Amino acid sequence: MSVPTPVADPELVARLRADLRAAAYTVEAVAELLGPLATAALAREQVLPAQRVTVDVGTPLATLVRLFGLGDAVDSEEAAAALPTLGLVGAASLGLVREQGPGVVATCDLRPYGDEDHAWWIASDLTELQTRGPLREDHVLGLGGASTTLASWTPRPAVERALDLGTGCGVQALHLGAHARQVTVTDISTRALDFARFNAVLNECDWDVVEGSMLDPVAGQQFGLIVSNPPFVITPRTPDVPLFEYRDGGQAGDAVVADLVRSIGAHLEPGGVAQFLGNWEVVGDADWRDRVRGWVAGTGLDAWIIQRDVQDPAEYAETWSRDGGHHSATTEFATMYAAWLDDFASRGVSAIGFGVITLQRLVGDREPFVELTEATGPVAVPMGAHVLSGLRARTWLAEHTDDEVLAVAWRCADDVTEERHGRPGEEDPAVIMLRQGGGLRRVVRLDTVGAALVSVCDGTLPAGAALAAIAELLGKPAAEVRVAALPLVRELVADGLLV
Ligand SMILES: C[S@@+](CC[C@H](N)C(=O)[O-])C[C@H]1O[C@@H](n2cnc3c(N)ncnc32)[C@H](O)[C@@H]1O
Repeated sequence: MSVPTPVADPELVARLRADLRAAAYTVEAVAELLGPLATAALAREQVLPAQRVTVDVGTPLATLVRLFGLGDAVDSEEAAAALPTLGLVGAASLGLVREQGPGVVATCDLRPYGDEDHAWWIASDLTELQTRGPLREDHVLGLGGASTTLASWTPRPAVERALDLGTGCGVQALHLGAHARQVTVTDISTRALDFARFNAVLNECDWDVVEGSMLDPVAGQQFGLIVSNPPFVITPRTPDVPLFEYRDGGQAGDAVVADLVRSIGAHLEPGGVAQFLGNWEVVGDADWRDRVRGWVAGTGLDAWIIQRDVQDPAEYAETWSRDGGHHSATTEFATMYAAWLDDFASRGVSAIGFGVITLQRLVGDREPFVELTEATGPVAVPMGAHVLSGLRARTWLAEHTDDEVLAVAWRCADDVTEERHGRPGEEDPAVIMLRQGGGLRRVVRLDTVGAALVSVCDGTLPAGAALAAIAELLGKPAAEVRVAALPLVRELVADGLLV
Protein backbone atom coordinates (compact mmCIF):
# COMPACT_ATOMS: atom_id res chain seq x y z
CA MET A 1 0.00 0.00 0.00
CA SER A 2 1.39 3.41 -0.87
CA VAL A 3 1.83 5.62 2.17
CA PRO A 4 1.42 9.36 1.65
CA THR A 5 3.92 11.93 2.77
CA PRO A 6 2.69 15.09 4.51
CA VAL A 7 1.78 18.08 2.38
CA ALA A 8 3.55 21.34 3.18
CA ASP A 9 0.42 23.50 2.74
CA PRO A 10 1.25 26.66 4.74
CA GLU A 11 -2.35 27.52 5.63
CA LEU A 12 -3.31 24.06 6.90
CA VAL A 13 0.05 23.60 8.61
CA ALA A 14 -0.50 26.89 10.48
CA ARG A 15 -3.75 25.43 11.82
CA LEU A 16 -1.99 22.25 12.88
CA ARG A 17 0.68 24.33 14.65
CA ALA A 18 -2.01 26.22 16.53
CA ASP A 19 -3.56 22.94 17.72
CA LEU A 20 -0.22 21.43 18.76
CA ARG A 21 0.55 24.61 20.72
CA ALA A 22 -2.88 24.72 22.34
CA ALA A 23 -2.52 21.09 23.44
CA ALA A 24 0.96 21.88 24.86
CA TYR A 25 2.38 19.02 22.75
CA THR A 26 5.92 19.52 24.07
CA VAL A 27 8.74 17.18 25.13
CA GLU A 28 8.27 18.16 28.78
CA ALA A 29 4.46 17.81 28.81
CA VAL A 30 4.59 14.39 27.12
CA ALA A 31 7.20 13.19 29.63
CA GLU A 32 5.04 14.41 32.49
CA LEU A 33 1.93 12.73 31.06
CA LEU A 34 3.67 9.38 30.52
CA GLY A 35 5.69 9.36 33.73
CA PRO A 36 9.14 7.79 34.11
CA LEU A 37 8.06 4.14 33.79
CA ALA A 38 6.23 4.47 30.46
CA THR A 39 8.86 6.89 29.14
CA ALA A 40 11.64 4.42 29.93
CA ALA A 41 9.63 1.53 28.43
CA LEU A 42 9.11 3.51 25.21
CA ALA A 43 12.87 4.07 25.01
CA ARG A 44 13.15 0.27 25.09
CA GLU A 45 10.59 0.13 22.25
CA GLN A 46 7.72 -1.08 24.47
CA VAL A 47 4.46 0.82 23.95
CA LEU A 48 2.17 -0.99 26.38
CA PRO A 49 2.87 1.08 29.52
CA ALA A 50 2.36 4.31 27.52
CA GLN A 51 -0.90 2.96 26.07
CA ARG A 52 -2.18 2.13 29.58
CA VAL A 53 -1.28 5.58 30.91
CA THR A 54 -2.94 7.51 28.06
CA VAL A 55 -5.94 5.43 26.96
CA ASP A 56 -8.56 6.93 29.30
CA VAL A 57 -7.18 10.43 29.80
CA GLY A 58 -9.12 12.08 26.96
CA THR A 59 -7.19 15.40 26.95
CA PRO A 60 -5.97 16.74 23.57
CA LEU A 61 -2.39 16.06 24.70
CA ALA A 62 -3.10 12.40 25.53
CA THR A 63 -4.99 11.97 22.24
CA LEU A 64 -2.09 13.41 20.22
CA VAL A 65 0.33 11.07 22.00
CA ARG A 66 -1.88 8.05 21.28
CA LEU A 67 -2.49 9.02 17.66
CA PHE A 68 0.89 10.32 16.51
CA GLY A 69 3.29 8.83 19.06
CA LEU A 70 1.98 5.33 19.75
CA GLY A 71 0.21 4.54 16.47
CA ASP A 72 -3.10 3.74 18.20
CA ALA A 73 -6.48 4.02 16.48
CA VAL A 74 -8.37 6.88 18.10
CA ASP A 75 -12.10 7.56 18.15
CA SER A 76 -12.96 10.22 15.52
CA GLU A 77 -14.65 12.59 17.96
CA GLU A 78 -11.74 12.43 20.31
CA ALA A 79 -9.25 13.03 17.47
CA ALA A 80 -11.33 15.97 16.20
CA ALA A 81 -11.34 17.46 19.71
CA ALA A 82 -7.53 17.29 19.79
CA LEU A 83 -7.29 19.10 16.42
CA PRO A 84 -10.08 21.72 16.71
CA THR A 85 -8.54 24.30 14.36
CA LEU A 86 -7.31 21.90 11.70
CA GLY A 87 -10.17 19.39 11.90
CA LEU A 88 -10.03 15.80 10.68
CA VAL A 89 -10.64 16.81 7.07
CA GLY A 90 -7.68 19.17 7.29
CA ALA A 91 -5.53 16.48 8.94
CA ALA A 92 -6.40 14.03 6.16
CA SER A 93 -5.66 16.68 3.49
CA LEU A 94 -2.24 17.20 5.07
CA GLY A 95 -1.64 13.44 4.82
CA LEU A 96 -1.42 12.95 8.58
CA VAL A 97 -4.37 10.62 9.29
CA ARG A 98 -6.75 8.21 7.58
CA GLU A 99 -10.03 6.65 8.60
CA GLN A 100 -9.95 3.19 10.12
CA GLY A 101 -13.23 1.65 11.26
CA PRO A 102 -15.04 4.07 13.54
CA GLY A 103 -11.90 6.04 14.21
CA VAL A 104 -8.72 7.40 12.65
CA VAL A 105 -5.09 6.31 12.62
CA ALA A 106 -2.00 8.37 11.93
CA THR A 107 -0.19 7.91 8.64
CA CYS A 108 3.00 9.44 10.02
CA ASP A 109 4.82 9.90 13.27
CA LEU A 110 4.60 13.44 14.66
CA ARG A 111 6.31 14.23 17.91
CA PRO A 112 7.69 17.15 19.88
CA TYR A 113 11.46 17.67 19.91
CA GLY A 114 13.69 20.38 21.31
CA ASP A 115 16.97 21.55 22.77
CA GLU A 116 17.68 23.86 25.72
CA ASP A 117 16.29 26.88 23.83
CA HIS A 118 13.81 25.56 21.26
CA ALA A 119 10.59 23.57 21.06
CA TRP A 120 9.94 21.93 17.67
CA TRP A 121 7.80 19.15 16.17
CA ILE A 122 9.08 16.50 13.78
CA ALA A 123 7.08 14.42 11.35
CA SER A 124 8.59 11.24 9.91
CA ASP A 125 7.41 7.83 8.75
CA LEU A 126 5.63 5.59 11.25
CA THR A 127 8.08 3.40 13.13
CA GLU A 128 7.90 -0.39 13.32
CA LEU A 129 6.40 0.04 16.81
CA GLN A 130 3.50 1.94 15.29
CA THR A 131 3.02 -0.19 12.17
CA ARG A 132 3.76 -3.41 14.10
CA GLY A 133 5.71 -4.67 11.08
CA PRO A 134 9.05 -4.37 9.21
CA LEU A 135 9.95 -1.02 7.69
CA ARG A 136 9.66 -0.12 4.02
CA GLU A 137 12.93 0.29 2.13
CA ASP A 138 12.16 3.98 1.51
CA HIS A 139 11.34 4.55 5.20
CA VAL A 140 12.06 8.10 6.38
CA LEU A 141 13.77 7.97 9.72
CA GLY A 142 12.59 10.11 12.60
CA LEU A 143 14.56 10.89 15.72
CA GLY A 144 17.08 8.16 16.42
CA GLY A 145 20.09 7.64 18.63
CA ALA A 146 22.45 8.69 15.83
CA SER A 147 20.45 11.88 15.10
CA THR A 148 20.66 13.03 18.70
CA THR A 149 24.34 12.05 18.92
CA LEU A 150 25.18 14.20 15.89
CA ALA A 151 23.03 17.08 17.16
CA SER A 152 24.83 16.89 20.50
CA TRP A 153 28.36 16.80 19.00
CA THR A 154 27.89 19.53 16.39
CA PRO A 155 29.84 22.72 17.11
CA ARG A 156 27.53 25.68 16.71
CA PRO A 157 29.40 28.81 15.65
CA ALA A 158 27.34 31.53 13.99
CA VAL A 159 27.76 30.92 10.23
CA GLU A 160 26.39 32.45 7.07
CA ARG A 161 25.66 29.16 5.24
CA ALA A 162 25.15 25.65 6.63
CA LEU A 163 24.47 22.33 4.90
CA ASP A 164 22.69 19.24 6.24
CA LEU A 165 23.67 16.41 3.89
CA GLY A 166 21.22 13.48 3.97
CA THR A 167 18.74 15.50 5.97
CA GLY A 168 15.99 12.85 6.25
CA CYS A 169 13.12 14.58 8.01
CA GLY A 170 15.36 17.57 8.82
CA VAL A 171 16.37 17.05 12.45
CA GLN A 172 19.84 18.53 12.06
CA ALA A 173 18.53 21.42 9.95
CA LEU A 174 16.25 22.53 12.79
CA HIS A 175 19.33 22.96 14.99
CA LEU A 176 21.29 24.66 12.19
CA GLY A 177 18.56 27.26 11.76
CA ALA A 178 19.41 28.59 15.22
CA HIS A 179 22.95 29.65 14.24
CA ALA A 180 23.13 29.75 10.42
CA ARG A 181 21.64 32.55 8.35
CA GLN A 182 20.90 30.21 5.44
CA VAL A 183 20.36 26.44 5.64
CA THR A 184 20.56 24.01 2.69
CA VAL A 185 19.30 20.46 3.08
CA THR A 186 19.87 17.58 0.65
CA ASP A 187 18.77 13.98 0.34
CA ILE A 188 18.55 11.32 -2.33
CA SER A 189 15.06 10.38 -1.10
CA THR A 190 12.08 12.32 -2.43
CA ARG A 191 10.01 10.98 0.49
CA ALA A 192 12.56 12.36 2.95
CA LEU A 193 12.51 15.76 1.28
CA ASP A 194 8.70 15.83 1.45
CA PHE A 195 8.98 15.36 5.22
CA ALA A 196 11.77 17.96 5.41
CA ARG A 197 9.62 20.53 3.54
CA PHE A 198 6.68 19.79 5.84
CA ASN A 199 8.82 20.10 8.99
CA ALA A 200 10.33 23.35 7.74
CA VAL A 201 6.87 24.89 7.32
CA LEU A 202 5.58 23.44 10.62
CA ASN A 203 8.53 24.95 12.50
CA GLU A 204 8.47 28.21 10.52
CA CYS A 205 11.90 27.60 8.97
CA ASP A 206 13.02 28.49 5.48
CA TRP A 207 15.44 25.90 4.03
CA ASP A 208 16.87 25.52 0.58
CA VAL A 209 15.76 21.91 -0.17
CA VAL A 210 17.72 20.09 -2.92
CA GLU A 211 17.44 16.52 -4.14
CA GLY A 212 20.46 14.45 -5.17
CA SER A 213 23.20 12.05 -4.14
CA MET A 214 25.80 13.04 -1.57
CA LEU A 215 27.62 16.24 -2.69
CA ASP A 216 26.21 16.35 -6.25
CA PRO A 217 23.40 18.81 -5.42
CA VAL A 218 25.84 21.37 -3.94
CA ALA A 219 28.49 21.23 -6.68
CA GLY A 220 30.49 24.45 -6.64
CA GLN A 221 29.04 25.62 -3.32
CA GLN A 222 30.84 26.23 -0.04
CA PHE A 223 29.56 26.36 3.53
CA GLY A 224 30.75 27.51 6.94
CA LEU A 225 29.35 24.35 8.55
CA ILE A 226 28.39 20.99 7.06
CA VAL A 227 26.72 18.32 9.16
CA SER A 228 25.87 14.81 8.11
CA ASN A 229 24.55 11.68 9.73
CA PRO A 230 25.23 9.91 6.43
CA PRO A 231 23.91 6.51 5.35
CA PHE A 232 27.01 4.95 6.88
CA VAL A 233 25.80 1.44 7.69
CA ILE A 234 28.07 -1.19 6.16
CA THR A 235 25.66 -3.46 4.29
CA PRO A 236 26.36 -6.64 2.29
CA ARG A 237 25.56 -6.08 -1.38
CA THR A 238 23.42 -9.21 -1.70
CA PRO A 239 19.70 -9.68 -2.41
CA ASP A 240 19.38 -11.28 1.07
CA VAL A 241 19.67 -7.92 2.79
CA PRO A 242 17.21 -5.11 2.11
CA LEU A 243 18.83 -1.81 1.20
CA PHE A 244 17.10 0.73 3.41
CA GLU A 245 17.53 4.19 1.94
CA TYR A 246 17.95 5.77 5.38
CA ARG A 247 21.03 3.74 6.29
CA ASP A 248 22.65 2.51 3.09
CA GLY A 249 24.59 4.88 0.85
CA GLY A 250 24.94 2.40 -2.02
CA GLN A 251 28.61 1.46 -1.70
CA ALA A 252 30.50 -1.55 -0.37
CA GLY A 253 32.17 -1.53 3.06
CA ASP A 254 32.86 1.87 4.59
CA ALA A 255 33.40 3.63 1.24
CA VAL A 256 30.50 6.10 1.74
CA VAL A 257 32.16 7.72 4.73
CA ALA A 258 35.67 7.48 3.24
CA ASP A 259 34.48 9.29 0.08
CA LEU A 260 32.72 11.96 2.09
CA VAL A 261 35.87 12.67 4.12
CA ARG A 262 37.98 12.80 0.95
CA SER A 263 35.67 15.10 -0.97
CA ILE A 264 34.21 17.48 1.63
CA GLY A 265 37.12 19.97 1.63
CA ALA A 266 36.01 21.53 -1.68
CA HIS A 267 32.69 22.47 -0.04
CA LEU A 268 34.10 24.16 3.06
CA GLU A 269 34.83 27.87 3.23
CA PRO A 270 38.24 28.72 4.72
CA GLY A 271 37.79 28.02 8.45
CA GLY A 272 34.63 26.01 7.70
CA VAL A 273 33.87 22.88 9.71
CA ALA A 274 32.32 19.52 8.78
CA GLN A 275 30.82 17.30 11.44
CA PHE A 276 29.94 13.68 10.57
CA LEU A 277 29.15 10.36 12.14
CA GLY A 278 30.57 7.22 10.60
CA ASN A 279 31.50 3.57 10.74
CA TRP A 280 34.88 2.20 9.72
CA GLU A 281 36.15 -1.30 9.22
CA VAL A 282 39.13 -2.68 11.10
CA VAL A 283 40.90 -5.31 9.02
CA GLY A 284 42.70 -8.07 10.94
CA ASP A 285 45.05 -6.70 13.60
CA ALA A 286 45.32 -3.25 12.01
CA ASP A 287 44.82 -0.10 14.07
CA TRP A 288 41.61 1.76 13.15
CA ARG A 289 43.59 4.99 13.22
CA ASP A 290 45.73 3.95 10.26
CA ARG A 291 42.69 3.30 8.07
CA VAL A 292 40.87 6.52 8.95
CA ARG A 293 44.09 8.58 8.82
CA GLY A 294 44.41 7.30 5.25
CA TRP A 295 41.05 8.90 4.40
CA VAL A 296 42.21 12.28 5.70
CA ALA A 297 45.70 12.12 4.15
CA GLY A 298 46.07 14.51 1.26
CA THR A 299 42.87 16.44 1.99
CA GLY A 300 44.81 19.29 3.62
CA LEU A 301 42.11 19.47 6.31
CA ASP A 302 42.48 19.57 10.06
CA ALA A 303 40.94 16.40 11.46
CA TRP A 304 39.85 15.44 14.96
CA ILE A 305 38.30 11.99 14.93
CA ILE A 306 37.00 10.22 18.01
CA GLN A 307 36.14 6.53 18.09
CA ARG A 308 33.18 6.13 20.45
CA ASP A 309 32.35 2.45 20.12
CA VAL A 310 33.61 -0.80 18.62
CA GLN A 311 31.58 -3.88 17.68
CA ASP A 312 32.73 -7.26 16.45
CA PRO A 313 31.20 -8.47 13.15
CA ALA A 314 28.57 -10.60 14.94
CA GLU A 315 27.40 -7.71 17.16
CA TYR A 316 27.23 -5.47 14.11
CA ALA A 317 25.27 -8.08 12.13
CA GLU A 318 22.80 -8.52 15.00
CA THR A 319 22.26 -4.78 15.41
CA TRP A 320 21.50 -4.16 11.75
CA SER A 321 19.58 -7.38 11.10
CA ARG A 322 17.24 -6.40 13.94
CA ASP A 323 16.99 -2.77 12.78
CA GLY A 324 14.06 -2.44 10.42
CA GLY A 325 11.77 -4.59 12.54
CA HIS A 326 13.07 -8.16 12.05
CA HIS A 327 13.00 -10.40 15.10
CA SER A 328 15.86 -12.72 15.87
CA ALA A 329 13.71 -15.88 15.73
CA THR A 330 12.86 -15.42 12.02
CA THR A 331 14.50 -17.00 8.96
CA GLU A 332 14.98 -13.52 7.43
CA PHE A 333 17.03 -12.53 10.46
CA ALA A 334 19.26 -15.62 10.20
CA THR A 335 19.77 -15.08 6.45
CA MET A 336 20.76 -11.44 6.96
CA TYR A 337 23.01 -12.32 9.90
CA ALA A 338 24.87 -14.85 7.73
CA ALA A 339 25.17 -12.38 4.84
CA TRP A 340 26.77 -9.81 7.15
CA LEU A 341 29.25 -12.34 8.56
CA ASP A 342 30.18 -13.48 5.03
CA ASP A 343 30.60 -9.89 3.85
CA PHE A 344 32.94 -8.96 6.71
CA ALA A 345 34.87 -12.25 6.33
CA SER A 346 35.41 -11.52 2.60
CA ARG A 347 37.41 -8.41 3.56
CA GLY A 348 39.04 -9.86 6.69
CA VAL A 349 37.16 -7.41 8.93
CA SER A 350 37.67 -8.13 12.63
CA ALA A 351 35.85 -5.12 14.11
CA ILE A 352 33.74 -2.12 13.16
CA GLY A 353 34.38 1.25 14.74
CA PHE A 354 31.81 3.99 15.21
CA GLY A 355 32.77 7.55 15.79
CA VAL A 356 32.54 11.27 15.32
CA ILE A 357 34.52 13.01 12.58
CA THR A 358 35.32 16.71 12.79
CA LEU A 359 37.13 18.30 9.83
CA GLN A 360 38.20 21.91 9.36
CA ARG A 361 39.47 23.79 6.34
CA LEU A 362 42.60 25.77 7.13
CA VAL A 363 42.59 29.55 6.91
CA GLY A 364 46.28 30.24 6.42
CA ASP A 365 49.29 28.25 5.32
CA ARG A 366 50.34 25.70 7.94
CA GLU A 367 50.49 21.96 8.52
CA PRO A 368 47.03 20.55 9.32
CA PHE A 369 46.59 18.80 12.65
CA VAL A 370 45.29 15.24 12.48
CA GLU A 371 44.24 13.66 15.77
CA LEU A 372 42.57 10.27 16.09
CA THR A 373 41.62 9.26 19.56
CA GLU A 374 39.28 7.02 21.54
CA ALA A 375 36.66 8.13 24.06
CA THR A 376 34.25 5.32 24.71
CA GLY A 377 32.86 6.48 28.06
CA PRO A 378 30.14 9.01 28.87
CA VAL A 379 30.76 12.60 27.74
CA ALA A 380 29.04 15.93 28.30
CA VAL A 381 25.62 16.44 26.66
CA PRO A 382 25.53 18.51 24.53
CA MET A 383 29.16 18.18 23.39
CA GLY A 384 29.07 20.88 20.67
CA ALA A 385 30.50 23.71 22.78
CA HIS A 386 33.39 21.48 23.81
CA VAL A 387 34.03 20.42 20.19
CA LEU A 388 34.14 24.09 19.19
CA SER A 389 36.53 25.07 22.00
CA GLY A 390 38.60 21.92 21.28
CA LEU A 391 38.86 22.90 17.60
CA ARG A 392 39.90 26.42 18.53
CA ALA A 393 42.48 25.18 21.03
CA ARG A 394 43.94 22.71 18.51
CA THR A 395 44.03 25.42 15.84
CA TRP A 396 45.86 27.77 18.22
CA LEU A 397 48.34 25.03 19.13
CA ALA A 398 48.98 24.27 15.44
CA GLU A 399 49.68 27.95 14.82
CA HIS A 400 52.10 28.42 17.75
CA THR A 401 55.59 27.19 18.51
CA ASP A 402 56.57 25.33 21.66
CA ASP A 403 58.18 28.53 23.03
CA GLU A 404 54.92 30.40 22.49
CA VAL A 405 52.92 27.64 24.18
CA LEU A 406 55.21 27.78 27.23
CA ALA A 407 55.11 31.59 27.34
CA VAL A 408 51.42 31.46 28.32
CA ALA A 409 50.32 31.56 31.96
CA TRP A 410 47.81 28.70 31.76
CA ARG A 411 45.05 28.19 34.28
CA CYS A 412 43.44 24.91 35.31
CA ALA A 413 39.86 24.92 34.01
CA ASP A 414 37.12 25.25 36.61
CA ASP A 415 35.80 21.72 35.99
CA VAL A 416 39.16 20.04 36.66
CA THR A 417 39.89 18.24 39.93
CA GLU A 418 42.89 16.28 41.12
CA GLU A 419 42.79 12.83 42.71
CA ARG A 420 45.62 11.35 44.74
CA HIS A 421 45.71 7.66 45.49
CA GLY A 422 48.28 6.02 47.76
CA ARG A 423 49.00 2.75 49.49
CA PRO A 424 47.40 2.62 52.95
CA GLY A 425 49.73 4.17 55.54
CA GLU A 426 52.06 5.76 52.97
CA GLU A 427 52.40 9.52 53.01
CA ASP A 428 53.19 10.14 49.32
CA PRO A 429 50.56 9.36 46.67
CA ALA A 430 51.39 6.50 44.28
CA VAL A 431 49.06 7.86 41.58
CA ILE A 432 47.98 11.43 40.80
CA MET A 433 45.12 11.86 38.32
CA LEU A 434 43.59 14.93 36.76
CA ARG A 435 39.87 14.55 36.15
CA GLN A 436 37.80 16.75 33.80
CA GLY A 437 34.17 17.27 34.86
CA GLY A 438 32.77 18.26 31.44
CA GLY A 439 33.68 17.80 27.78
CA LEU A 440 35.27 14.43 27.02
CA ARG A 441 35.61 13.82 30.80
CA ARG A 442 39.29 13.12 30.32
CA VAL A 443 41.26 11.44 33.09
CA VAL A 444 45.00 12.07 32.77
CA ARG A 445 47.65 10.44 34.91
CA LEU A 446 50.37 12.88 35.98
CA ASP A 447 54.02 12.27 36.74
CA THR A 448 55.90 14.34 39.34
CA VAL A 449 56.68 17.16 36.91
CA GLY A 450 53.13 17.22 35.53
CA ALA A 451 51.59 17.30 39.01
CA ALA A 452 53.93 20.09 40.09
CA LEU A 453 53.18 22.10 36.94
CA VAL A 454 49.40 21.75 37.18
CA SER A 455 49.50 22.75 40.86
CA VAL A 456 50.88 26.18 39.91
CA CYS A 457 48.67 26.75 36.83
CA ASP A 458 46.59 29.58 38.26
CA GLY A 459 46.91 31.95 35.33
CA THR A 460 49.76 34.05 36.75
CA LEU A 461 52.99 32.16 36.00
CA PRO A 462 54.03 31.27 32.41
CA ALA A 463 54.38 27.48 31.99
CA GLY A 464 58.01 27.80 30.85
CA ALA A 465 59.01 29.70 34.01
CA ALA A 466 57.12 27.21 36.17
CA LEU A 467 58.94 24.28 34.50
CA ALA A 468 62.35 25.96 35.02
CA ALA A 469 61.61 26.34 38.74
CA ILE A 470 60.37 22.71 38.97
CA ALA A 471 63.56 21.48 37.24
CA GLU A 472 65.69 23.34 39.77
CA LEU A 473 63.70 21.90 42.69
CA LEU A 474 64.07 18.36 41.31
CA GLY A 475 67.75 18.89 40.45
CA LYS A 476 67.14 18.02 36.79
CA PRO A 477 68.33 19.81 33.62
CA ALA A 478 65.75 22.48 32.66
CA ALA A 479 65.84 21.53 28.95
CA GLU A 480 65.06 17.88 29.75
CA VAL A 481 62.10 18.78 31.99
CA ARG A 482 60.75 21.18 29.41
CA VAL A 483 60.91 18.67 26.53
CA ALA A 484 59.32 15.96 28.68
CA ALA A 485 56.48 18.23 29.83
CA LEU A 486 55.56 19.78 26.46
CA PRO A 487 53.36 16.92 25.15
CA LEU A 488 51.36 17.01 28.41
CA VAL A 489 50.90 20.80 28.21
CA ARG A 490 49.72 20.56 24.61
CA GLU A 491 47.36 17.67 25.44
CA LEU A 492 45.83 19.47 28.42
CA VAL A 493 45.38 22.67 26.40
CA ALA A 494 43.86 20.79 23.43
CA ASP A 495 41.25 19.10 25.60
CA GLY A 496 40.45 22.18 27.68
CA LEU A 497 41.95 21.10 31.02
CA LEU A 498 44.31 24.08 30.81
CA VAL A 499 42.78 27.30 29.54
C1 LIG B 1 20.87 8.07 8.86
S1 LIG B 1 19.77 9.04 7.90
C2 LIG B 1 20.01 10.63 8.68
C3 LIG B 1 18.77 11.47 8.73
C4 LIG B 1 18.90 12.75 9.54
N1 LIG B 1 19.86 13.67 8.93
C5 LIG B 1 19.29 12.48 10.97
O1 LIG B 1 20.30 12.99 11.43
O2 LIG B 1 18.56 11.76 11.64
C6 LIG B 1 20.64 9.17 6.38
C7 LIG B 1 19.95 9.96 5.31
O3 LIG B 1 20.75 9.93 4.13
C8 LIG B 1 19.91 9.77 3.00
N2 LIG B 1 20.69 9.16 1.90
C9 LIG B 1 20.86 7.85 1.59
N3 LIG B 1 21.66 7.73 0.53
C10 LIG B 1 22.00 8.98 0.14
C11 LIG B 1 22.79 9.51 -0.90
N4 LIG B 1 23.43 8.71 -1.76
N5 LIG B 1 22.89 10.85 -1.00
C12 LIG B 1 22.27 11.67 -0.12
N6 LIG B 1 21.51 11.23 0.90
C13 LIG B 1 21.37 9.90 1.03
C14 LIG B 1 18.77 8.91 3.47
O4 LIG B 1 17.64 9.07 2.65
C15 LIG B 1 18.60 9.43 4.91
O5 LIG B 1 17.66 10.46 4.94
